[in-house]
Amino acid sequence: MHALNLNPLLLLLLFSHLSCFHIVVPVFAKVLMSIDCGSSSLKPYTDKNSLVWVGDDQYVQTGETRSVKTKDLPSVWDPHVMGTLREFRTRNKNCYSLDVDNKAEDSTSVEWVFIRASFYYGNYDNKSTPPTFHLQFNGNNWTQVETSMEGVVYKEVVYSLNGKNNIIVCLGQTQVDHLPFISSLEVKSWESDTYSNYTDPNYPLFFNARLGYGISSAVRSSKDRYGRIWAPDDHLLAPTVKVRSSSTSLKLNIDDNPPEIVTRSAAVNLNSSALNLTIVGTTDLRVPIHVNLYFSEVMILNSTQKRSFNIIVNGFVFYSGELLQKFGPVSPPHGRALEVHFENVYVDPLFGYKIEIVRANGSTLPPLVNAFEDFYIGDKLVQGTNSSDVISLGLLQKSFIQLQDWSGDPCLPSPFTWDWVACDSDTDSPRVIALYLNDLGLTGSLPDFSAMDALETIDLSNNSLTNEIPEFLGKFSKLDTLNLEDNNFSGEIPCSLLKNSNLKLNVNNNPSLSTNNNASICQNNTDSRIPSASNIKHCIASALKVIILGSIIIQMLIIM
Ligand SMILES: *[C@@H]1O[C@H](CO)[C@@H](O)[C@H](O)[C@H]1NC(C)=O
Ligand SMILES: *[C@@H]1O[C@H](CO)[C@@H](O)[C@H](O)[C@H]1NC(C)=O
Ligand SMILES: *[C@@H]1O[C@H](CO)[C@@H](O)[C@H](O)[C@H]1NC(C)=O
Ligand SMILES: *[C@@H]1O[C@H](CO)[C@@H](O)[C@H](O)[C@H]1NC(C)=O
Ligand SMILES: *[C@@H]1O[C@H](CO)[C@@H](O)[C@H](O)[C@H]1NC(C)=O
Ligand SMILES: *[C@@H]1O[C@H](CO)[C@@H](O)[C@H](O)[C@H]1NC(C)=O
Ligand SMILES: *[C@@H]1O[C@H](CO)[C@@H](O)[C@H](O)[C@H]1NC(C)=O
Ligand SMILES: *[C@@H]1O[C@H](CO)[C@@H](O)[C@H](O)[C@H]1NC(C)=O
Ligand SMILES: *[C@@H]1O[C@H](CO)[C@@H](O)[C@H](O)[C@H]1NC(C)=O
Ligand SMILES: *[C@@H]1O[C@H](CO)[C@@H](O)[C@H](O)[C@H]1NC(C)=O
Ligand SMILES: *[C@@H]1O[C@H](CO)[C@@H](O)[C@H](O)[C@H]1NC(C)=O
Ligand SMILES: *[C@@H]1O[C@H](CO)[C@@H](O)[C@H](O)[C@H]1NC(C)=O
Repeated sequence: MHALNLNPLLLLLLFSHLSCFHIVVPVFAKVLMSIDCGSSSLKPYTDKNSLVWVGDDQYVQTGETRSVKTKDLPSVWDPHVMGTLREFRTRNKNCYSLDVDNKAEDSTSVEWVFIRASFYYGNYDNKSTPPTFHLQFNGNNWTQVETSMEGVVYKEVVYSLNGKNNIIVCLGQTQVDHLPFISSLEVKSWESDTYSNYTDPNYPLFFNARLGYGISSAVRSSKDRYGRIWAPDDHLLAPTVKVRSSSTSLKLNIDDNPPEIVTRSAAVNLNSSALNLTIVGTTDLRVPIHVNLYFSEVMILNSTQKRSFNIIVNGFVFYSGELLQKFGPVSPPHGRALEVHFENVYVDPLFGYKIEIVRANGSTLPPLVNAFEDFYIGDKLVQGTNSSDVISLGLLQKSFIQLQDWSGDPCLPSPFTWDWVACDSDTDSPRVIALYLNDLGLTGSLPDFSAMDALETIDLSNNSLTNEIPEFLGKFSKLDTLNLEDNNFSGEIPCSLLKNSNLKLNVNNNPSLSTNNNASICQNNTDSRIPSASNIKHCIASALKVIILGSIIIQMLIIM
């Protein structure tokens, strides 16, 4: 016998229990975007649920489009949308980027977003090896995606933009020969009253499973504002059967809005007094789990009939008499639905968790359950790389075409940092501390990236950069290495650099660079090229040795 650990905090919330129901107003989410990845069609495609899909060209700069054969695809997936994908052969990560402000259908601001990323392998590459790769959003870890030979794998997250106005979804390559790909990306604004009591804006909500116990195949109601997919439970054991509600109308105004098609049907255990739920699919299981259960009576009960049951979490060992009494039996309403939410359910790494629905004393009918969802709260959302740094990197990308393939957050999530930067270890809002722009064939002049004031290392060697060496390079207070070797800079070396005694400066092989300037000239110089007074103080104690050997080697010797 294994004693399952149990989180002492178990909350049972009964929503809308028989009395207070709101007026039915169908509220549809402001749909931001449904992207058909790998489709470069300029004409939007409208699927059978009237959902409009657009091609992905303007949301991603990299990757190649591929087509996939979509035979035997479950009907919740549109064959046209799943019939194309985008594959990423290069870079450690590749990203989709959506500007939120421009995409909302009305002018109200979008605070929460719901994202679904879907992956249909379909052996598009004839290799019969569905790849595994990493999924990320706005610098945060999302999950590992293990695609499959059959069917569609999809991931969902809900999170608060916290004032940001862009949504970035990245695919990171984690294994050699496992090329990341994506079939579709759906982004919707999220009504924050849904799943409300556990959506702290600083944490993302990741869905794990969503089941409709009475349905026999997956459903995706066109009326469900998020297009949530409810899977059937294929593991029901006899004598548990699927039943449909006799109710002609079903009022569904419970918070989390399961679609009617799901709440209208249920699983009923005809024989045993217990109906057990156990979690399936533990590949991405984390603790604690939050669980929603939905109940709706399927028949009109007469005066002698009664259906009531108790819900036991993680085993009767812990939930005997006292707790059962505390939570009391549940009696599902007819023609309406009831939602029960459990927070912080402990998951045993080996055994998962168990929820049992057990017939209560006095109940003449066996227990039933209509639907189930579970999810977990992710790690705290990151701020993202310091925005001054991000803007400056953007200027560099604008100036140099060689850098334009890099997308997403430059530093996060670790270790998916851009190849040509290094960052400090602050995982919430990192600074860029190094630029490795050597050997890239960069031409032209450097843009002003002076805002990146945490830089310690800048390597621009072996390019074809021209024009003067910008003076701001000498103003980075933490810079200790500046390599400008093998370029075609001209003009004079700025005093700001010559005076920085802490700097290892290499300007070798810049044939057009003037050697007129040196540290002692700079000391006397009072023009605008002179850095701040504090730097001058350092400079006074420095001397400069210039050795000319066909090229220029400058070394700073600190005499102190
Ligand atoms: C996969 O095989 C099919 C049939 O042999 C062929 O038509 C298709 O071009 C192949 N695709 C790739 C990516 O090799
Ligand atoms: C959410 O939590 C607040 C207080 O924590 C409570 O008053 C409210 O009833 C809860 N809402 C739901 C739908 O459970
Ligand atoms: C109900 O359970 C009893 C005892 O376990 C068993 O004998 C019987 O066959 C079951 N009935 C059905 C319909 O499964
Ligand atoms: C419910 O779970 C208990 C304990 O694991 C088990 O003994 C019982 O057979 C289960 N009932 C059903 C209907 O699966
Ligand atoms: C209630 O319904 C059950 C099952 O149909 C039936 O056996 C019972 O007689 C009914 N009781 C009353 C009071 O109508
Ligand atoms: C149900 O009733 C029996 C007999 O009266 C009692 O032993 C048992 O503890 C009751 N169960 C619950 C869950 O209250
Ligand atoms: C970026 O870093 C600088 C220097 O530490 C800081 O002053 C600034 O507030 C940071 N920007 C953001 C958006 O955090
Ligand atoms: C993401 O996951 C990696 C590896 O598990 C971890 O090192 C990192 O701290 C996580 N979070 C971020 C924001 O990078
Ligand atoms: C200089 O950069 C070019 C690419 O622009 C590369 O082919 C060459 O090998 C580099 N030279 C050295 C010495 O690294
Ligand atoms: C370097 O720049 C000068 C003009 O400043 C130009 O005349 C020369 O051809 C350039 N050299 C190389 C190798 O590009
Ligand atoms: C600095 O340059 C001036 C003028 O070219 C020269 O006279 C002086 O010797 C140089 N000083 C050093 C330390 O090289
Ligand atoms: C710098 O100024 C000092 C004193 O004013 C003078 O002796 C020295 O020659 C000047 N050096 C240069 C390079 O102009």
